[in-house]
Amino acid sequence: MTQMSKNGFPVERIREDFPILKQLIHGRPLVYLDSAATSQKPQSVIDAVVRYYREENANIHRGIHYLSERATADYEAARRHIARFINAPDPRETIFVRGTTEAINLVAHSYGRRFIHADDEIVISAMEHHSNIVPWQLLCEQTGAKLRVIPITDDGELIVDAYAKLLNSRTRLVSVVHVSNVLGTINPVKRLVEMAHSMHIPVLLDGAQAVPHVPVDVQDLDCDFYAFSGHKLFGPTGIGLLYGKTAWLDQMPPFQGGGDMISTVSFERTTYNSLPYKFEAGTPNIAGTIGLGAAVDYFQGVGVEAAARHEHDLLDYATEVLAAIPGVRLLGNAPEKTGCVSFLVDGVHAHDVGTILDQHGVAIRAGHHCAMPLMERYGLAATARASFAFYNTLDEINVLAEAIDEVKEVFS
Ligand code: ALA
Repeated sequence: MTQMSKNGFPVERIREDFPILKQLIHGRPLVYLDSAATSQKPQSVIDAVVRYYREENANIHRGIHYLSERATADYEAARRHIARFINAPDPRETIFVRGTTEAINLVAHSYGRRFIHADDEIVISAMEHHSNIVPWQLLCEQTGAKLRVIPITDDGELIVDAYAKLLNSRTRLVSVVHVSNVLGTINPVKRLVEMAHSMHIPVLLDGAQAVPHVPVDVQDLDCDFYAFSGHKLFGPTGIGLLYGKTAWLDQMPPFQGGGDMISTVSFERTTYNSLPYKFEAGTPNIAGTIGLGAAVDYFQGVGVEAAARHEHDLLDYATEVLAAIPGVRLLGNAPEKTGCVSFLVDGVHAHDVGTILDQHGVAIRAGHHCAMPLMERYGLAATARASFAFYNTLDEINVLAEAIDEVKEVFS
């Protein structure tokens, strides 16, 4: 397969760093178009995890022996590195969690317990992933607070005027997605934050689908919380990050109790550790953290801006090619998009599309994408979704299009 690239992006060389991409699936070269579900990992990330287990496995923050000190140093170095990657002003504001889901649950439990009461309101949007809906519904059930939903247009853009009308003196938190995992829409989050802040309302941004595709600067966004997952950022599963402003984190009670999050414990009273450890109870995912540090390092080596330009080319090309196939309809036509194309093939269930594409070695996701209310907004049960990373090529989009033609053939 020739690996075309516009803008001189060295996609062929980059693909060499991802051993999994060399596989044949059902006898065909793997065309991995499911990076929104989880990204592939470069060899340097795999090596960093293996090296930790081979050479320095020990618990952190506890031992006084050599290995423990080395593991602690690497864990904290990864924190500083990842904090710099999102331009967090202070690494103490970056809390390691299992992923975006746990980060949002942490805020729902901890911020929620302290600041959200009966009749208060939490604002989310119609394009949220279940992980930014269900934690708030649980909190509403417990507290009597209410969920308010920003509507979206048919093209998949947030209706900002409607958002403005939802904000009021009872709004305690806005929690919105930065980039939609189904529509690919890049939301105008800086503006949403400014609008909420003008009414002293804090904002959480779900950055799971944003960090692999757009440069993220939490100081520039001025968000109060930012959540993302390592495994979508070319790092291991089971590790993610919650950024939070100290002013909030200091006022929030711990999420989970246990080792490491305490300063002193007696049966009468426990005092808590300082940030970020107050929110990191128990032995953390040390290997995952070191792996995520390596992933950030790798991604910066590729160049976040260069990767974004290449992905823009992929998205433009995929949009053009898929839109030109009779009987294929795209979902999500916002002018600011990244990362994925959701589509429907007339008369064929998305799962059948996915199954036939798989026979061609093409991996996509099909279903409701953990966004059932969004599907309902469009009157759909499911879509097929091709999602990209910087290691994808324009030729792979051609393979996708040929495989969709085959789907149509089978169902004609
Ligand atoms: N949230 C991930 C996706 O959209 C799993 O595929």
